[in-house]
This record gives sequence, structure tokens and C-alpha cells, in this order.
Amino acid sequence: MASTDPGDAPRTLVCYGSSEGQTRKIATRMASVLESAGHRVRLVDAAERPIDLDVGAYDGVLVGASIHAGRHQTAVREFVRAHTGVLNRVPSGFVSVSLTAAHEDPAERAPAEELLEGFLEETGWNPDATLTVAGALKYSQYGRFKRFLMRRIAGKAGGDTDTSRDYEYTDWEDVDAFAREFATLLESAAGSTG
Ligand SMILES: Cc1cc2nc3c(=O)[nH]c(=O)nc-3n(C[C@H](O)[C@H](O)[C@H](O)COP(=O)(O)O)c2cc1C
Repeated sequence: MASTDPGDAPRTLVCYGSSEGQTRKIATRMASVLESAGHRVRLVDAAERPIDLDVGAYDGVLVGASIHAGRHQTAVREFVRAHTGVLNRVPSGFVSVSLTAAHEDPAERAPAEELLEGFLEETGWNPDATLTVAGALKYSQYGRFKRFLMRRIAGKAGGDTDTSRDYEYTDWEDVDAFAREFATLLESAAGSTG
């Protein structure tokens, strides 16, 4: 039977980078799925670099980042590089958010997988679980230049170009399933070591 002592619950760190808020929303959602599974979760914005953060104190780590101009956030890359040893030791997962992942055609989605793989190669991290997930087009939050740029990019890709509204492409069922699977992975890892 599962333990009812909250002190025994797995401690999970969810660290994310987010430029316009969608990855924050995804990270928050994964944190709440993990909490529903009984985990003690700390949600951290990589850009804030909290000085008291002891990554080694967690039983598992989930990292989220989004792609801008072909790169994931520098703060997330620095976080992963600084903690590669811990991340390769405990159960860990990486979620990469982009518009490329919104394509239905797997061939058009492939660059999102390649950027995820490139990030892992660059950092030397071997997570147990990875997910590429579609983000959002938040025209209302972009300045004039960014709105123009994103409208052009979306137009070329056959996407949404009405800049009077925002679009969210995230598959929340996929996000929930990934977080639930990660919770199970962590629980079985904890069970096999203690
Ligand atoms: C300036 C800009 C550049 C972007 N560049 C890319 C890109 O190169 N490839 C891609 O797939 N998505 C790209 N996107 C889409 C973002 O990854 C997507 O909007 C995502 O939801 C952003 O997540 P965030 O709000 O957590 O930063 C770009 C978005 C912006 C605003």
C-alpha cells in the first residue's frame, strides 16, 4: 500500500525557462499533476537562479524550455550544464516547447526533435524521458516587430495569422500523460533503491 506519510513522498524539482509564459504554464501543469500523485514539488524559473536551490536534494527533476530562433533558453542550458551530474543520476525528464511541434506531419515536426537532441548533446544530459510539445502564438504579448515576424513565420508554415487574438496549440492530455508517467518512473526508482 502507498505510504500516507507526506515525509516519504518523492521530492521533485520542476525547473523551466519561458519567454512568453507558455512553458511556465506547462511546467505549472506538470507540477500539479505530480502533486496530485502525492509528490512534494518545487517549481523554479531557471532565469531566477534561486541561491538556496540544492538540486541534489531532489529525487527527480523535470526541466522545460521553449525554442526561440532555433535555441532553448540560455538560463535552462546553464542550469542543465551546472547540474548534469545530478540530472544523470536521478530520474529526469526534458520537455521542449515550440511551434514546430504543432505540425501534424511528422516530417515537419522532425526539427523539434533534432533541436531537443542537440540540446542534450550540447549539455551531456541523458534524461530518462523527453517530450516535444506544441506551444502558443501570443500575438497580444508581442511588440510590433515580433508580431510582424511571427505572423510571417506562421503564414509561411500555413499557421494562424490573425494577430487580433492568441492561439494555444498545447496538447494538455499529452502533458498530463507525460507528467503521470514521470511520477510512476520516479516512484518505481524510489521503490527499487529503498
Ligand atoms: C521571437 C520568437 C521566435 C521563435 N522561434 C521559434 C523557432 O525557431 N522554432 C519554433 O519551433 N518555435 C519558435 N517560436 C515559438 C515558440 O517556441 C512558442 O511560441 C512557445 O510557445 C514559446 O514558449 P514560452 O512562452 O514558454 O517562451 C518562436 C517564438 C517567438 C516569439
